[in-house]
Amino acid sequence: MTNSANPIVELDFSDWAAPAGVPEKQAEWTAAIEAGQVLYFPHLSLQLSPPERALLREDMLKTGSRNVSLGSDGALKHAAGVPEEQKLLAGMLGRYRQLALTLADGLFPHYRGALRAAPTSFRPKQVETRTQSIHADDRRMHFDAFATRPTYGERILRIFTNLNPNGQPRVWRVGEPFETVAKRYLPRIKPYSPFMAQLLNAVGATKSVRSEYDHLMFNLHNLMKEDEQYQKTGTVATQAFPPNCVWIAYADLAAHGVASGQFMVEQTLHLAPGRELNPESSPLAILTRLMGHPLAGVGTAQTV
Ligand code: SIN
Ligand code: FE
Repeated sequence: MTNSANPIVELDFSDWAAPAGVPEKQAEWTAAIEAGQVLYFPHLSLQLSPPERALLREDMLKTGSRNVSLGSDGALKHAAGVPEEQKLLAGMLGRYRQLALTLADGLFPHYRGALRAAPTSFRPKQVETRTQSIHADDRRMHFDAFATRPTYGERILRIFTNLNPNGQPRVWRVGEPFETVAKRYLPRIKPYSPFMAQLLNAVGATKSVRSEYDHLMFNLHNLMKEDEQYQKTGTVATQAFPPNCVWIAYADLAAHGVASGQFMVEQTLHLAPGRELNPESSPLAILTRLMGHPLAGVGTAQTV
């Protein structure tokens, strides 16, 4: 089961809770996602009531914001619309969060107790026409890495659902395995400087001190997006996710870019470092092996 053979694994479930009933397949699904494959569920979706469907509008997003988000405290951020619409949107996102958690629990029971849910996001912008800087532009192939929030090896597992009401698919490009891409760019990344990391934190550019792992992931993300040649040649597969389907990927491991689409909900789950079924498959383990020394900071994740 290699990433280059087929990066997309299609699963037939039509009920978010169903994978829990197939324990003999759970290790296989976990191994697939940890190998950088994308799990695709053509028959799962978030059912919307008619008033919820009326929220699928770009003007539900506050001007200047990227996404609407719902925190675990129930606080809705970056939403426009009247209070009644905001309440409906919060309810819809809260429901999605529960479904995403149920699905992850059934697919990956090995992760029980090690997942932390990030805010749930609603992305109503048309991908093709939104204007963004090169580094913020998710149409360009990349691994996810946060500019301001070091992860110290904590993983970024993302559960996506296309809610487009007009028949538009969300089209993704998926790329080569992490290690292949990392080997290409590592020689071009400036050595990690603990002093610079402290300085960035002192001036408020990061929320905690960037570890060497975060320095490498941040630069890898940027170099991939800047590289026009790679952007033209790095695609292994193109997948159109039609309206009303779900897909899951480790966004820090599977190279991806979104080509087109509008109206998606997304739930990020963070897995504690080293809690993979095969910890050797993680970006932290791969980069540690390629660099030949520990990339520090793993133990500090709990303290920041
Ligand atoms: C991402 O690059 O993480 C998001 C892709 C998308 O918006 O479909
Ligand atoms: Fe991404």
